[in-house]
Amino acid sequence: MEAETHGKTGVVNDEVINEVHPPVGVSSLDYKALYERSLADSDGFWSEQARSLLTWFSDFQNVQQGSFETGDIAWFTAGKLNACYNAVDRHIPARANQVAIIHEADEPGQSTKITYAELLAKVCRVANAMKEMGVRKGDFVTLYMPMVPEAAIAMLACARIGAPHSVVFAGFSADALRDRILNASCKFVMTADEGKRGGKTIPLKRIVDAACSGCPCVKTVFVFKNTCADVPFAATRDVWMSELLPNMRPYCPCEAMDSEDTLFILYTSGSTGQPKGLAHTTAGYLLHTALTTKHVFDLKEGDVYACVADVGWITGHSYIVYGPLINGTTSLMFESTPLYPDHGRYWDLVQTHKVNQFYTAPTAIRALMRFGPEITEKYDLSSLRVLGTVGEPINPEAWRWYNEHVGKGKCSIVDTWWQTETGGHLMTPLPGITPMKPGSCCFPFFGVEPVVLDPKDGHELTGNDVEGVLAMKRAWPSIARTVYGDHERYLSVYMNPYKGYYFTGDGCRRDKDGYYWITGRVDDVLNVSGHRIGTAEVESALVAHASVSEAAVVGFPEPVKGQGLCCYVTLTAKAVESGDLVAELRMQVRQHIGAFATPDVIVISPGLPKTRSGKIMRRILRKVAEGESDSLGDVSTLADPSVVEVLIAKVADVM
Ligand code: PRX
Repeated sequence: MEAETHGKTGVVNDEVINEVHPPVGVSSLDYKALYERSLADSDGFWSEQARSLLTWFSDFQNVQQGSFETGDIAWFTAGKLNACYNAVDRHIPARANQVAIIHEADEPGQSTKITYAELLAKVCRVANAMKEMGVRKGDFVTLYMPMVPEAAIAMLACARIGAPHSVVFAGFSADALRDRILNASCKFVMTADEGKRGGKTIPLKRIVDAACSGCPCVKTVFVFKNTCADVPFAATRDVWMSELLPNMRPYCPCEAMDSEDTLFILYTSGSTGQPKGLAHTTAGYLLHTALTTKHVFDLKEGDVYACVADVGWITGHSYIVYGPLINGTTSLMFESTPLYPDHGRYWDLVQTHKVNQFYTAPTAIRALMRFGPEITEKYDLSSLRVLGTVGEPINPEAWRWYNEHVGKGKCSIVDTWWQTETGGHLMTPLPGITPMKPGSCCFPFFGVEPVVLDPKDGHELTGNDVEGVLAMKRAWPSIARTVYGDHERYLSVYMNPYKGYYFTGDGCRRDKDGYYWITGRVDDVLNVSGHRIGTAEVESALVAHASVSEAAVVGFPEPVKGQGLCCYVTLTAKAVESGDLVAELRMQVRQHIGAFATPDVIVISPGLPKTRSGKIMRRILRKVAEGESDSLGDVSTLADPSVVEVLIAKVADVM
């Protein structure tokens, strides 16, 4: 394993912010004592939490079993429960008239609200419609949905009838959607006619049609009317929800699921090969997301909680749908972008809905910072108590802007570190408890035991002031249980690199005070605007073009997106370098993956730096893209060292 840190945080900051509100010590939780107990009496801690936070149809036997070595982790075995029951039914009648979901539509001023009672009826109708069309317990259902309440309703309906959902972010292309449908052999797909985002229309149904043309497994496509646009309709395959739902009964019984039944799969990128469908099971996932949402966002009765992510990513699964609803809170779904119609949109949303917790990504904060803080003064942000960030390291400058201009120095900032694989937060400050350091995800959550390993030999670096790779020493309830259909890959990516540990793929520093600082990925995974992109996927998209012979993709620091994509390509003998070709290659990546993976820089080069055995020296490509060509190190071992000079000149030309 190459143990270099590719992401750059530029964070060397040990300042502790003690004075932020609510003042440290305000919470009644004794973090240290509870954390110690969660490790020393792990079974006792988790069984208490499981019985107090979740409603069970029948109690579990073992709290936890299995190990990282054997990859057979299981929690709360033999317990029976249902995710939808926990998120919706059990809040009735107490919360029947409380708003469960606020939907803030793409166009401002068009929000809608759904109470828990309404949510139950809507979920039940969709669940019954799915059953009517043949969806059975254990069938996988692909959801390709806009950010409308129906996305959450569809997820909950799947959970209700025991059909694992596989949500594909609606920014993925038809090709990427097809790969994901095929990987899980989905017979059922759910979508809408069109989506809206930032004033633009996304032709969801047409994309689904294109994807399904290569998916013989798909029998039924459920289509919601969203914009009511005229879209193609295949009478033998497609069904309009608007025709089915009115005839469906607004109650549908919940399936009693085993704790370890798969609740969903969600694809994410790795350093090699195609994206992996991480499988999350029912009880552990629900418990961890419920417990973290409760404490990390300091939920109080009557709060309005807004996570402005998309349900297509793990953040949306855990912290828009399951975590908040299990806690019976009011969760806001945001269909638009931080810049539409202008850069005051987030703050308009906070003011309009009196949002108490606001959760976004550092890239959004950096995008807004460019316009200056003035617009934050125009809105009443006094309802805010907790500000969250997720997805990438937050640079202290963005942290301070968020703290000062949005939180007015009175909010807790929770920099939550976690991954698709972890299901929920693993490291984060807790409001009113943790003295914060701007840019640090601070300390482990209850029951989480992080270690910093020496990447050279895997030994644990004990004590403080150490840097290495981040791993986990013990399992937590919401750890993904497998890579769907490829358990070997699960073991080889996460469990085998450092025996006895879960390997995160991130670099990390534990400072002199024991605070954790994520330094970025140590593998070939990039983080562009908080989106995880595998360099191998972009490379395979590029080499699929007839003119491309070889491709190597690396990241470089980009002020707003965190990282940008720099693609080095060599052409086939017949191909001719041109501006048109570069545009075609960009389009090629958009078609294979999606617009969010569009290359920032494409460098057409006569060759790539390779060792004499033919291995591409990515370290050199990274340094050149980062503009650090004066610290390339030894290039004499390259088969053709002269190629480096050409690359430096080419990059200087296009950057
Ligand atoms: O590198 C870390 C970064 O995002 C990766 C996980 O990406 P994904 O599975 O898409 O999940 C994103 C939402 C949880 C991690 O390996 N990352 C996530 N949160 C942080 C972070 N890096 C630094 N600080 C964070 N708070």
